[in-house]
Amino acid sequence: MKKIFIRTLGCQMNIRDSEVICGLLKKAGYQICSSDGEADIVIFNTCSVRQHAEDRVWSLIGSYKGSKIIGLVGCMAQNYKERAFQREANISFVAGPQDIYKIPEILDKLAGGEFFERKIWEVDSSQRPEEIYHTGFFQDKSHAYVVISEGCSNFCSYCVVPYVRGSLRHRKSKNILMEIQGAISNGAARITLLGQNVNAYQDNHINFTKLLEQANALEGLAELNFFTSHPKDANAGFFQAIRDLDKLNKSLHLPLQSGSDRILKLMNRGYSVKEYLDLIDSYRRIVKGGLLTTDIIVGFPTETDEEFEETYDLVKKTRFNAAYIFKYSPRPNTKAAKIADLLSKEGKEKRHKKLLDLQRRISNSLRAGNKHAKV
Ligand code: 5AD
Ligand code: SF4
Repeated sequence: MKKIFIRTLGCQMNIRDSEVICGLLKKAGYQICSSDGEADIVIFNTCSVRQHAEDRVWSLIGSYKGSKIIGLVGCMAQNYKERAFQREANISFVAGPQDIYKIPEILDKLAGGEFFERKIWEVDSSQRPEEIYHTGFFQDKSHAYVVISEGCSNFCSYCVVPYVRGSLRHRKSKNILMEIQGAISNGAARITLLGQNVNAYQDNHINFTKLLEQANALEGLAELNFFTSHPKDANAGFFQAIRDLDKLNKSLHLPLQSGSDRILKLMNRGYSVKEYLDLIDSYRRIVKGGLLTTDIIVGFPTETDEEFEETYDLVKKTRFNAAYIFKYSPRPNTKAAKIADLLSKEGKEKRHKKLLDLQRRISNSLRAGNKHAKV
């Protein structure tokens, strides 16, 4: 029996995609290993959201010598396509996020001995077959990730996701509920619903709030979470559902990205600072004591010191429970990559550190139960 190890990098979507791949490969007779040492085949399920994530994968793959079959899958596979073989000669196959269902077939072909296709790349699909979500494979017996929508059509100007994961597609609610039911019967009491923008979910008359209600009603479920929300599609009705549905975690991750209106516009985020602040005001009024976390990018092209300070002041005022703060990284195909990125590496690092330090103080003070302490 051939042994496979999957190394997962990146977001929760990739964690779920790796489970999907494991489920398919187990069905095809492969054994899944917990480390690369014992494996014949090593698959890297990768992220392209920032250059740093890609650099790490190239160096990991570069360190493999010898006879293992190496596969590059996920966002980097879609980003590099067959160019990946030039970059690292020891890669045998490449499969983009929409093509992961072909991996068992690719491995069959590669095992075909003198078969002339020594290198295989599959990056042309735009849709995954629904069946791949129903192999019943979940890594964690008590918690399951469930994808509700794939891709993204928002085209935030810095983001590679629409180019590597394709345009937004919604899974059918009946299939999602069936998958959740299956995970519950498997022993999972906690579920996290996944999508790049869960609030945009729509399957005929079922919107995201309705889907949350239906999931919340499932017997055997103890806790429900979701990830990620987009401010332009969030509203009071959604916050009321967070308040009212008993199994739903009272917590919201609402990426801000910048505290400057000019930068938000350049980012194509679809909201102003005032709209964001009104929204979180409404969240905090409706979901009393609810946690609030965010994502922020510093050093977006042309961001001035003053615009960075606007973000800094907003973070200080808002007191997020946690903030994931990133240095801007130019990504291929994106609109922002065409704007000159003139801020030095040191300049970005300085802004990054200053905001991280502030957020650390805020998070610590909130954890210590001090809601209004000066930071
Ligand atoms: N550079 C830096 N951070 C980015 N993100 C997305 N694209 C980039 C980029 N090009 C961040 C955003 C997003 C999070 C998942 O990653 O903040 O919300
Ligand atoms: Fe990227 Fe924006 Fe889509 Fe999030 S909403 S995945 S940041 S394009």
